[in-house]
Amino acid sequence: MSAGASERRLIFALDVASRAEAETLVAKLRPSVGFFKVGLELFVSEGPELVRWLVGEGLDVFLDLKLYDIPATMRRSVAAASRLGARFITIHDAGAGAAAAREGTDDSRLQVLCVTLLTSVDARDLRDNVGMGSGGRFRDLDEYVGWRARTAVSNGCDGLICSGQNARRLRRELGPGPILVCPGIRLGGDRLDDQKRVVTPYRAVRDGADYLVVGRPIRDAADPLAQARKILAEIDRGLQDRKSTLGSGV
Ligand code: C5P
Repeated sequence: MSAGASERRLIFALDVASRAEAETLVAKLRPSVGFFKVGLELFVSEGPELVRWLVGEGLDVFLDLKLYDIPATMRRSVAAASRLGARFITIHDAGAGAAAAREGTDDSRLQVLCVTLLTSVDARDLRDNVGMGSGGRFRDLDEYVGWRARTAVSNGCDGLICSGQNARRLRRELGPGPILVCPGIRLGGDRLDDQKRVVTPYRAVRDGADYLVVGRPIRDAADPLAQARKILAEIDRGLQDRKSTLGSGV
């Protein structure tokens, strides 16, 4: 595995249903990608053995299970994930469940990331489904995401899943500490699929993202490795321009 520092910042979402498909994609991308996300589809299909295989191959694993449950279940599920050797796990609860999840890591290398708001949800969805903006608690989407982020971090989460559209504001508000992981990444001209709050890899990293999650734009490309390398080049450019955007220290 020859992936360097910036190559570990690109997390490829293994959104496939079988180990055979996962193995094919890992083999294609390995020369440049060292971090893989196992989400609900693949975990439900292939279970923990798939995670053990990736870890055994020396790859970093992001277990994207988006947990939301009572504290005892959060603690025990996260403890089970830490025994698998995963690097990141996602949760949806920013409150007591987040604190319990953090306890479950038991000082292993597993880090807990809280979803602020799905990148497939936009301000209009929030207005229609949560009543945001109509006399509710939050004036707009940024205020809601900021509140989720602060709550999660104060309850011990190591980082946040957020749109690249939120990265600059969160980075400025929360400082360099929390890990920011951004899905909803699209190169100019890419299909949006079901994502709504998308940004380019360059913009997300320039604005403070530590890691990008990319699935379909790589999975469905004619040449997935070439596509991943295009994204890595944008990550490098974003890192170069980050200091002038955010100031030193972040
Ligand atoms: O294919 P695409 O690049 O849109 O995939 C994004 C991946 O990131 C999917 O696996 C999806 O489950 C995940 N994700 C997301 N938005 C979040 C959290 C995770 O799109 N807030």
